[in-house]
Amino acid sequence: MNPIMEIASKHHLLVIEDACQSHGATYKGRAVGSFGAGTFSLYPTKNMTSGEGGMITTNDEAIAEHCRVIRQHGMRRRYYHDELGFNFRMTDLQAAVGLEQLKKLGKFNQARAQNARFLSSHLKGVGVPFVPDGHEHVYHQYTIRVPGGRRDALVEHLNKQGVGCMVYYPVPIHKQTFYVNELGYNMSLTETECAAQEVLSLPVHPGLSNEDLETIVAAVNNFMA
Ligand SMILES: Cc1ncc(COP(=O)(O)O)c(C=O)c1O
Repeated sequence: MNPIMEIASKHHLLVIEDACQSHGATYKGRAVGSFGAGTFSLYPTKNMTSGEGGMITTNDEAIAEHCRVIRQHGMRRRYYHDELGFNFRMTDLQAAVGLEQLKKLGKFNQARAQNARFLSSHLKGVGVPFVPDGHEHVYHQYTIRVPGGRRDALVEHLNKQGVGCMVYYPVPIHKQTFYVNELGYNMSLTETECAAQEVLSLPVHPGLSNEDLETIVAAVNNFMA
């Protein structure tokens, strides 16, 4: 974030952080979503949820006010539409769920970090997440790298063992049909394409038991041995 903020400040740019998978994560002691304007998803799989929806964080009163206006049909005064707006209102019921989830976020994240520590110290033969000093990872995903073209076979093996796992994401953005056909993207990003072939996310959510963690580790290690 520091180099990004330096570029932004030099060129007077607003930074919009996609923090949709990182509620509570920190960069050099500072919460993500507090550098520029932060956007967070509250979809059910996220570290905290309101069922659907999301939130925006900002210290800038003008941005906050603009977001409030476009959220509600571009109105500042009721039924006076100053600009193009939308119906992006969150329901009170969803907000109530979200506020309770926010109180639990610290505990959820601690459990995720503890599960991640267990996985990283027991998994063998795969690349595990790297966290630089002074950064706090909240493990929305616990993503490993499976070398040697064995990723898809490991997925199959884990599924047979009853271990849920998922590839996030199988197709990089520049290879998505819409980008290729409609926007004319035609490029090769070798590191990205290699990652898309090798990444695999294992369960790390706060509901895992010790037994679950041991099952995951045994299933991966048996395959990679
Ligand atoms: C990094 C990232 N950005 C944006 C989104 C979109 O969030 P939503 O589905 O709440 O619009 C997601 C959802 O998975 C995400 O992971």
